[in-house]
Order: sequence, then structure tokens, then C-alpha cells
Amino acid sequence: MQMPFILALCLLAIGPRDAHSAPAQDCHAVSREACAIAHGLGRGINLGNMLDAPREGDWGVRLEPRFIELATRHFQTVRLPVRWSNHAAPTADARIDEAFARRVDGVVDALLARGVRVILNVHHYMQLTGGPLHPGEFAVDPAVLEERLVNLWRQIAWRHRDRPPQLLFELLNEPHGTLEGERWNRLAARLLAAVRASNPTRVVLIGPGDWSHPRALPALRLPPDAYLIVAIHSYDPFEFTHQGVTWRANPFPTGTRCCDEAQRAQVVQALDAALRWNRANGVPVHLGEFGAYRAGDLASRAAYARLVRDEAERRGIGWAWWEWASDFSGVYDPARKVWVEPLRRALLD
Ligand code: BGC
Repeated sequence: MQMPFILALCLLAIGPRDAHSAPAQDCHAVSREACAIAHGLGRGINLGNMLDAPREGDWGVRLEPRFIELATRHFQTVRLPVRWSNHAAPTADARIDEAFARRVDGVVDALLARGVRVILNVHHYMQLTGGPLHPGEFAVDPAVLEERLVNLWRQIAWRHRDRPPQLLFELLNEPHGTLEGERWNRLAARLLAAVRASNPTRVVLIGPGDWSHPRALPALRLPPDAYLIVAIHSYDPFEFTHQGVTWRANPFPTGTRCCDEAQRAQVVQALDAALRWNRANGVPVHLGEFGAYRAGDLASRAAYARLVRDEAERRGIGWAWWEWASDFSGVYDPARKVWVEPLRRALLD
């Protein structure tokens, strides 16, 4: 009689162990609310290559209401990349084009109404990171580059200040190039201060340099703030995920498959590094991007998706696939109006 009772007590203490019960990350440096939001990010999708193109539609896909409807039925989090810098005055005040801001408002509200968490970011401010401009992107006086970003955030944050806490901000996608180390640390602190003026407790994501690879985490110096999550990205193994991409000067050859032991080890090492950093720093991490370019074979891409998803979930790290319906690695085929089944299964089954 006694054994089953004790057993029942133990099971209660441990809690149900189903596919969704992930280990918790260490949250000792953030508030309980930020910790809960981080743990609720779960499975996510990037509505990429839409509002982050120089102009919506430039990269072949517009953000359609049906995408919102369908994606939010299957993912708990939507990351919304937005190229604000190309829809704002070229001057230091960076006054945002009102029609564009309203377009983003509409998408954010439609997503929130569907009950998902939304990560709204600043994506592709190419000149700030020293990269060549994308076709259709305009240049500004280098003296106002950083000030513009501060003022973009001042406006974005003010505009969204009354939205629910399910809306998260991410200061900048993948700092890299000329925006590394101390320059990024200093700028991130200024951007956060601009946000905090109107949003004292909204959760904000900050990624490290080196395209937000976990290996750059040691150089990230976070401002003291209890409402932060750290954004990491992983495209390891890079020769596989970026084979044949058109924008590299020397494209990796195609034909690389995934995932053998060495490739698996790369995925695991990056996520382990992120988890070690979390344990030491007490700020939760989120895997905001991973994906494999369509030039790779579909079976390998699905195997990669499953591998990264499983390894992230095993570590209690929420994730977001790059991306929904565009030509990098869309999980949905907008022309045929069908899921790319092997990818859907790998991510969601
Ligand atoms: C960029 C995309 C790119 C992807 C994979 C993203 O952060 O915004 O343009 O396709 O990374 O390289």
C-alpha cells in the first residue's frame, strides 16, 4: 500500500514527461515573467524574406493573411523580420514611413490576435554592418548610421508600447562585420535604453556578434536588465546549409548531404555552448534561426531540421525555422498552396 503512494508523490514532483516537457534553462538573472516567456517560445517560424526585403515583394513573396492564419495554427511563435531602415528618413531622426509602420502594425496585431508570441526585429540594415547594400536599399551619411537605429527603436517601441507582453522586440538581426565586440555592446545598450523609455518590462532579445553564432557569446556584454533573452542562430554545418547560395562570392558546391557524426557534432557543440553560457549567466537563450538552403537535397534538409529541433528541445531551447514560404528553406509552398511535407514533418510531427 505504501509503495504506490510514495511513487505517486514522486511522479507528481517530477511532473508529466511528455514530448513537450523540456528541461528548464537557468533564469537567475531575469524576472519570472521573462523566464516564462522564454520557456513558452516553443516551436517557431520566421515569416522571412517578406517585410525584410528592401520593399515587400522584392524577394518574390508578400506577407499574405493566409500565411498568418496557417502558420499560427502550427507554431507557437512567429519571428517577424522587418527592414525598417529602408522605410525611414535617411537623416538621424529616421522618421519611419507611416504607411509602412501601419503595415507592420496590422501584421503584428493579426498575429497577436491568433494567440502566438511575436518577435519583432530590425533586420538587414546592411550599411551599419559594413556589408554591400542590397539592390533597392538606399545609403545614408555614415555619421548618422547608429543614431538612426536608436531613433528607429525609439519610434517602434513607442508605437507598440501598449501591446501585450506576447510581443517581444529583437534589437538587431545578426550583428556582424563592422558591428562586433565593444561597438555592438555599446550600441545594444543605447538601443535597449531607447526601448526602455516606453517599454520598461517588455522582453527584448539581443544576439551576439558573428551572425549571432553561439561561439560569439563570450564577447556579448548585456546591459543590466531583468527582461532579456539572448538570441542565437545556428546554420552549422554551414557547407551543408548554405550550399549553392547565390549571394556568396564563392558558393559552396552542392551535393553535400546531412547528417553524419561530424555534422551532428557541430550542431550539438553550438547548442551546448549556448547552454553553458545560459548556466553561467542566467539569461535564457532562443534559437531564432536555423535552416538549410533549397539547393541541398530535401531528405537531408529534413534530417537536419529534425536534428536541430530535437537537440534544441532536449536543451529546453525554443526555436524558429528560417523560413516560412520563401526560397531559402520555406516549409510551405505558396505557389502550390501545400506544405513541403518532409520539412513540415521534421519540424512539427
Ligand atoms: C538572412 C537571410 C538569409 C538567412 C540564411 C537570415 O538572417 O536574413 O537573408 O537567407 O539568414 O543565411
